[in-house]
Amino acid sequence: MKVLAVNGATREQGNTDAITSMFIDGAREAGNDVHTAVLRELDISDCIGCCTCKRERRCHFNDDMTALRDAVVGSQILVLSSPLYFCEVTGLMKIFLDRLYFFYHPENKHLTSGKKALVMTTMGEKEAGFETQLIEEFYRRFLKALDMILLDMVFFTELMEKESFTKHHDELVRAFTLGNRLY
Ligand SMILES: Cc1cc2nc3c(=O)[nH]c(=O)nc-3n(C[C@H](O)[C@H](O)[C@H](O)COP(=O)(O)O)c2cc1C
Repeated sequence: MKVLAVNGATREQGNTDAITSMFIDGAREAGNDVHTAVLRELDISDCIGCCTCKRERRCHFNDDMTALRDAVVGSQILVLSSPLYFCEVTGLMKIFLDRLYFFYHPENKHLTSGKKALVMTTMGEKEAGFETQLIEEFYRRFLKALDMILLDMVFFTELMEKESFTKHHDELVRAFTLGNRLY
């Protein structure tokens, strides 16, 4: 499978980097072709709502999102990995997702239609549920808008401090297994 893993963490070498990296190791071990995008390393402008994508089927900006959009189109599974920030995704991830508005255009929708998505969220709190209601609903609506299929939404909990992942080997194993059993 061709997999594109998009990492929206702001913190270098934190929990999301560790979890995403374990997931990628697992996916590659199983023979998947995995490409990665670390959003904090890319130049991606905020969507300015000019709606050029709606009128002309092209984006007003020619930044790193141009290649990343092609990578989305070329992938079979899109992995969205972000820390939970105030019950939502990070700003970096939100900017990336907003720029996918390009695919909301009726004539572009076939480019994402039927594509699979896997969502991974790292978080400080012990339990998902109340804490993750908003992000769950947000991702569901977002993926529905682009006619994508949600494979799974996985929460990696109790990862508050930068190196919390070092004390939660179980969560790292869970991420590896998730990648290893990608379908
Ligand atoms: C601005 C900010 C907001 C956060 N909001 C939440 C939250 O709403 N719920 C939660 O469980 N953890 C929250 N956290 C904790 C992070 O989700 C957690 O530390 C995560 O592991 C960070 O990933 P990282 O190590 O890759 O940066 C927040 C952290 C920050 C910095």
